[in-house]
Amino acid sequence: MQFNNLIVQIENGVGVITINRPKKLNALNKDTILELHHSIKDLDAAHDIRVIIITGSGDKAFVAGADISEFSDFDVQQAAQLSREGQELLFDFIENLSTPVIAAINGFALGGGLELAMATHFRVASDNARMGLPEVSLGVIPGYGGTQRLAQLVGKGRALEMIMTAQMINASQAELWGLVNAVKSQEELLPYCFLLAEKIKQNGPLAISAAIKAVNANFKEGISGFDIEISEFAKCFGTEDFKEGTTAFLEKRKAKFTGH
Ligand code: COA
Repeated sequence: MQFNNLIVQIENGVGVITINRPKKLNALNKDTILELHHSIKDLDAAHDIRVIIITGSGDKAFVAGADISEFSDFDVQQAAQLSREGQELLFDFIENLSTPVIAAINGFALGGGLELAMATHFRVASDNARMGLPEVSLGVIPGYGGTQRLAQLVGKGRALEMIMTAQMINASQAELWGLVNAVKSQEELLPYCFLLAEKIKQNGPLAISAAIKAVNANFKEGISGFDIEISEFAKCFGTEDFKEGTTAFLEKRKAKFTGH
């Protein structure tokens, strides 16, 4: 599938989506959000794609936010629709995807850009990356899940400090606060993400999807994460992957998982 604002490459079972609007610092306009939805859906449906990496083109920005020019004249109803549709199409969609998604933050990740990175399953940053939720400087708050996910990742006090001051933090601060898992040089960023993807690929894909569901359950209202863990744990026992994983261990060989 061809996209206007994305480059999608597949390498050895890993799908790499590069958001490609460098002149606008890869800002997320409506078309880009739709293209991201479709590309991620396609990669998730492809049985041989086991990990997805999202990054930005160039060496300056991951994503510098939602495209401000698209919503500056919106009214209250249009704003509610923008936020709800975006959350459903992209941010919640990624968080609940069965294929693991890694954000390779290669520069500015601001507003919707940081929200996108926070919706992925985990994040790695380059040492020049700068992250923030500057929406209050525009007279608005984050609308793509940022108020929820930032507090989950760094804690309420740090989240409110970042949101209320609208200040950016650098990559080492983000690592210290647990917003990103590791910091690498620009050159090392994607190779390091591929290394992590390789490690993930060694493991049972159905178990990986079950782990995503169980961990996410802790952050959903009205359901017990422990109950979800019990049911996902039990479901694994009905898979060929579980039989293969345990048999391979007992036979002292490497498991060959098929995702069935
Ligand atoms: N929406 C729309 N366009 C954006 C954008 C966004 N979120 N972020 C950057 N751009 C555009 C700029 O308007 C500029 O376009 P132009 O060349 O047609 O004027 C281009 O990208 C380059 O950005 P510029 O501001 O000139 O780069 P800079 O190096 O001086 O500053 C930033 C970089 C990231 C600090 C600055 O672009 C910025 O503050 N962006 C907005 C961040 C933000 O508030 N995001 C939250 C949105 S909800």
